[in-house]
Amino acid sequence: LVDVRKFYGDSGMFTYDPGFTSTGSCGSKITYIDGDEGLLLHRGYNISELAEQSDFMEVAYLLMKGDLPNKAQKDKFVKDITNHTMVHEQLSQFYRGFRRDAHPMAICCGVVGALSAFYHDSLDIHDPHQRMVASYRLVAKMPTIAAMAYKYSVGQPFVYPRNDLSYAANFLRMMFSVPAEEYEVNPIVEKAMDRILMLHADHEQNASTSTVRLAGSSGANPFACIAAGIASLWGPSHGGANEAVINMLHEIGGKQNIPGFLSRVKDKADHTRLMGFGHRVYKNYDPRAKVMRQTCHEVLTSLGITHDPLLELAMEMEQIALKDDYFVSKKLYPNVDFYSGIIFRAIGIPTSMFTVLFAVARTVGWISQWNEMIEDPDQKIGRPRQLYNGQTERPYKPLHMRG
Ligand code: ACO
Repeated sequence: LVDVRKFYGDSGMFTYDPGFTSTGSCGSKITYIDGDEGLLLHRGYNISELAEQSDFMEVAYLLMKGDLPNKAQKDKFVKDITNHTMVHEQLSQFYRGFRRDAHPMAICCGVVGALSAFYHDSLDIHDPHQRMVASYRLVAKMPTIAAMAYKYSVGQPFVYPRNDLSYAANFLRMMFSVPAEEYEVNPIVEKAMDRILMLHADHEQNASTSTVRLAGSSGANPFACIAAGIASLWGPSHGGANEAVINMLHEIGGKQNIPGFLSRVKDKADHTRLMGFGHRVYKNYDPRAKVMRQTCHEVLTSLGITHDPLLELAMEMEQIALKDDYFVSKKLYPNVDFYSGIIFRAIGIPTSMFTVLFAVARTVGWISQWNEMIEDPDQKIGRPRQLYNGQTERPYKPLHMRG
């Protein structure tokens, strides 16, 4: 607690907590994390069990509606989602306004924000049905928008969604089909993609989810709120870390350079971090990273990749870091981003699309949290205070009197 009565009078007591390290901003029934144990539950279900036995559409239903669906509920949900996979033809015009070499996250941020112009006046956020339709639209259109961003960047025509395919397969086909050749979705790749989507679906009040909630707390349009979430996710301290990990591994180049790189990481003046390591909440192995590492081995083996220098480098780095005093004393373990990029590479996803895929998956969590917030009777506009440490009041000096 900070006493700020000097500036704010007797009502001026509040918690000063930069980075919200110990501030609970809301109540939530969606996701539970025990950072010391390395435990992650969605609506009470363990992420490892979900990743092993469930699929992304089921996890989306679970997060959005509170429980696992039965067969009929799941079929209806998948049908409802696939109903909305197309985007308005006019939306495709937005892409042409971007530079060809624009980062796909920049494009997604803009295009998802632009959806608010298509679904604004017709949306009453206090009507649960209208909120649900908006949520379906977002979850359904994200893969289409993401694949279009990729197609635009490589100068290929957009591919329309195919609703007889799974969520993951439909995305892969929209990414990789070209008019001359229909992309045949490899079931191993489809399963890997589906699992990666599950592992990224929600993670309680991380930076991007808190951003979505904060933007939404003013009653803003949900499509605009999700665009705000995408912006927050993009940073390398958050979802952008998956891209940064691959760039870092390339920069290190080989196992012989690990000690030199770690010396830079330990030197505060250098500002280098071991990307894909460390987490605000986990002071133990991130359970998603465990599944991701296992999936990495399975996918590479199934695809017949017997030797991947980047995977070998990452594993060696992990081994060394987990025994190193610096990482042990600060409880820094691999997070979800450490191994995801290696799988993405193995299944042919370009590096610039890694964070976009994170956003596609996290949209489910963002929109579930947004819905929960709107329904919460305790919900108020998010409005943190600050510790003012600037000038006290002083008289205005006309220009001619300033030295
Ligand atoms: N490499 C080297 N040192 C690190 C790392 C790292 N990856 N992460 C934390 N540290 C050190 C910090 O320098 C700090 O040291 P100090 O106590 O001597 O000052 C200490 O550990 C605590 O770090 P903070 O930055 O204060 O921890 P915070 O909870 O604010 O940050 C974060 C968490 C941003 C994830 C951080 O660990 C990091 O930058 N990691 C690398 C980027 C990354 O992988 N991000 C993805 C996170 S998961 C996700 O968003 C999906």
